[in-house]
Amino acid sequence: MTNISITNSKNNVGAYINDINLKNLDQDKAEEIETALNQFGVIFIKEQNLNPESYQNFAKSIGQPVVYPRLKGLDEKFPFINVIERKPDDKNLSFGSSWLHQDTSYLANDRPRYTMLMGIEIPDGQGNTIFSSGFNAYEKLPNEIKDKIKDATGIFSSAGPISVTRLEREKEMGIKSSESMEAEHPIVKTVNGKKTLYVSPGHLMKIKNVKEEDANYLKNYLIEHVNKQEFIFSYEWSKGDICLWDNLSILHMASEIKNCKRIMHRITIK
Ligand SMILES: [Fe+2]
Repeated sequence: MTNISITNSKNNVGAYINDINLKNLDQDKAEEIETALNQFGVIFIKEQNLNPESYQNFAKSIGQPVVYPRLKGLDEKFPFINVIERKPDDKNLSFGSSWLHQDTSYLANDRPRYTMLMGIEIPDGQGNTIFSSGFNAYEKLPNEIKDKIKDATGIFSSAGPISVTRLEREKEMGIKSSESMEAEHPIVKTVNGKKTLYVSPGHLMKIKNVKEEDANYLKNYLIEHVNKQEFIFSYEWSKGDICLWDNLSILHMASEIKNCKRIMHRITIK
C-alpha cells in the first residue's frame, strides 16, 4: 500500500488522504481508500467538489449505497444522495447535533456501516462536524472497566435523546413520524483487529449483561468517556470536502449553526 498519501489528524481521530482526485479513481486507489477507512475509522479528503454522479460513484466504490427515506433526496437520478440543508432563519437544532452518536445503531440487522458527507455550501467559521474515536477511547479505558464491559450489550433506540433533531426534520417534510425502533448490540466491537467502543450516546438507553448495580454507572461513565477532548477532533469544513466514516469505530455529531446557510450531501453505505 504505497499509492496514496495519508497524514493523521488531530488526536489521531482518523486521517487525511492527500493529493487525490476522486473524479479519476482507479480500482487500486479505491481499495487503498477503503483500507485506510477501516484502519483509521474516518477519512478526510479536501476540496473534491464532485458532481452528483462522481460522488455517487465514489460511494459505490466503497460499498452499497442505501436509500435513507427520512431525509430529502437530491432528485430521482441520484436516489442515494440526501440533502441536509440549514437555512439562515432555521431556529431548531441542526440535524444530528448535540449528542455524539453512531448512525442507525437502533437497527437490529443490515444497518448501513459508513456515512459520507460532502460540503456543498459552507458558512465561514461555523458548522464543524465533531468526531470521537471509539478505538482511542477503548484503548484508554482502565482495565477494570474493560473487564466489566467485555460481554456487555447496549439497548439503542431511535427515540433516544438525539431523536429530537430527526423529529424536527420529519415535521418540516410533512412525514408522519415512524414508530421508534430498538436494537441490542455488543458495545465492544473489533474492527480491523482493534477493539472499539460502540456506545452511541444519542441512542443508548441501557447497558445489559453487566452486574445490575453497575449498569447505570457504566452507561454514564462511557458517555462521559467518549466525550473527552483527548478523543475528539472537530473538523472544519471547506467547500467540496468529503468526510467518510465507519459507524462501528467513530462517533460523530453536528455542531450548532446560527443565522447562515449550509448545504451538505450525505450518502450512507452498507
Ligand atoms: Fe449522524
